[in-house]
Amino acid sequence: TPIKPMVAGNWKMNGLKAGQAELHKMLAGISDDLADCVDVMICPPATLIASFSEKVTGNVMAIGAQDCHAAASGAHTGDLSAGMIADAGAKAVIVGHSERRTDHGETDADVNAKAQAAWSAGLVAIICVGETEAERKAGEAVAVVERQLAGSVPDGATAQNTVIAYEPVWAIGTGLTPTAGDVAEMHEAMRVDLAKRLGAEGSAMRLLYGGSVKPGNAAELMAVDNVDGALVGGGSLKADDFLGILAAYQ
Ligand code: G3H
Repeated sequence: TPIKPMVAGNWKMNGLKAGQAELHKMLAGISDDLADCVDVMICPPATLIASFSEKVTGNVMAIGAQDCHAAASGAHTGDLSAGMIADAGAKAVIVGHSERRTDHGETDADVNAKAQAAWSAGLVAIICVGETEAERKAGEAVAVVERQLAGSVPDGATAQNTVIAYEPVWAIGTGLTPTAGDVAEMHEAMRVDLAKRLGAEGSAMRLLYGGSVKPGNAAELMAVDNVDGALVGGGSLKADDFLGILAAYQ
């Protein structure tokens, strides 16, 4: 069976209640036909998960979170458990985003534990990997990503409970993107790696590309072999841009 692609928007630390206007415009612009072709998700800041979840009905869009704590509960001031996020209506949670790895020192082992916490709460884990500019220039991009996959993806990963997002750090928010050839090489390496380790589940797992995806480059990037969708930052904040990206699947 072919893999159903996913396009997830990561709003990062952007969005107030007024952002519901964009959500409504997105919902109005996603036809049932489009929703049949691609799973659409918005990951707003945690403050908006509950209200956004009430707005999305049917299968047109799901709401996700941007991070969770690895523990189920406890003395962790300011943190949110996967169970809390699920309770608010999220269906998935991004773990190991490069901004979490950089800003909060998250290691592969931390990300691995968060992914397992996500599964325990019934959430899909969207696990992020990606090399820095220096690592790419040194010719280490594939090796770095393979190491991150080995450390960050728990053994129990399936095509249902896990999505991988490849985000070259140097392409995030910069307007720079790898060539289609470079994306193809990385996604092929990830596919081979995951299939070797997880068998059929790795072969069927969705591999998203992220980093400066815009309406103007989405069709080309989404057409690359083993690219099963996108994780979109800036291009997911405005409905017009996000719908323009989704048009790659129309
Ligand atoms: O999670 C999303 C990525 O970090 C991509 O961000 O589309 O703004 O480059 P960007």
